Amino acid sequence: MKRSFIREILEHTNNNTISFAGGLPDQSLFPTADLQQSANRVLKHNATLQYTKSTGIDSLKEKIAQFYCEEGFPTKPDNIMITSGSQQALDIISRYNNNKTITIESPSYLGAINVFNLNNIKQKSIILEDDGINLKGFKSSIKDTKFSYLIPDFQNPTGKTYSKEKREQIATMIKENDAILIEDSPYSELYFDTRNTMISSTIPNNSFHLGSFSKTLAPSLRIGWIRASKELLEPLISYKEAMDLHTNGLSQYIVDDYLNDMDKYKRHLEVIREQYKIKMLIFKEQLDHYLPTFEYCEPKGGMFIYGKLPNIDTSSFIRECLKHEVIFVPGSEFYSDDSVSDEIRFNFTHTSIQDIKKGLAKIAKILKTF
Ligand SMILES: Cc1ncc(COP(=O)(O)O)c(C=O)c1O
Repeated sequence: MKRSFIREILEHTNNNTISFAGGLPDQSLFPTADLQQSANRVLKHNATLQYTKSTGIDSLKEKIAQFYCEEGFPTKPDNIMITSGSQQALDIISRYNNNKTITIESPSYLGAINVFNLNNIKQKSIILEDDGINLKGFKSSIKDTKFSYLIPDFQNPTGKTYSKEKREQIATMIKENDAILIEDSPYSELYFDTRNTMISSTIPNNSFHLGSFSKTLAPSLRIGWIRASKELLEPLISYKEAMDLHTNGLSQYIVDDYLNDMDKYKRHLEVIREQYKIKMLIFKEQLDHYLPTFEYCEPKGGMFIYGKLPNIDTSSFIRECLKHEVIFVPGSEFYSDDSVSDEIRFNFTHTSIQDIKKGLAKIAKILKTF
């Protein structure tokens, strides 16, 4: 039901529609020329078109393991499984843990809620506060579920980030209850000022840390990964093999070749962070100008600004906006029940600066007569 709502909205858009809806990166920042060069190099070898190992190619796993080591989180290639985006990582873990109950944030990432539902994993939703999940709620829920799914950095949909204190307390609660944490981190590299510490780094035997190149390089590559202890990773391998034998080898070789010049990748990340921060500040300025009643919390990174238009049923409001060719995602989409919501998620990365201004001006005009 939830999925079809967004699909329905997207089906009614056209080339003129200004979209703040999808979680799309700014495609003008894709490193297309560099990836093209990598593809050319990679395709000189027949072996890059051969079947490959189910957990991913060795040299890419080594590089990903190195990212963790640089952050002070000791990791070996054996701790990594390359997946088809972090979406598949969620699916693999969920298939293995089907019929369980999981503690999640409210609101949470729609793609995860759908995976949990399809795998018959019941969800206990705990309110997400500005500095992370409500600890009292988490504490009592994790005792029962022993299984949790959190997005601590620049959360989707809310853009919120966990404080250091909450990260530490959550790690303690996970350990005390001998529970498992799925730490989903596709936005972690998109920080504006400071990098956050991974919760998983203090509970390496009780966590799956999920990463992705979708927001840093390009989503169509479909390269994500799981970082976990060998004990936790091992049983997932047969699920991965049953699903697709291995992640697209050509994409893996292209990313691996691109990462041979690690300085270039790091410079690329700096450019994205800088540009996204500029876009967020412009979005915020325009929001304050056109929608002064919109209440939100300024994100410290990532791709989303989330907040509420008090007393406006945003699921009805979006239908009016759609008629005028501007869209966003109403908050009701991110809750596991069907409650009415006055919340909105805006993506600020995909749209041009010109369209940010045009789109928000349109929304303000529609709101006046709504
Ligand atoms: C929180 C979260 N997890 C996972 C994903 C899936 O990303 P991908 O499969 O492209 O790595 C997304 C995509 O938007 C997301 O927002």
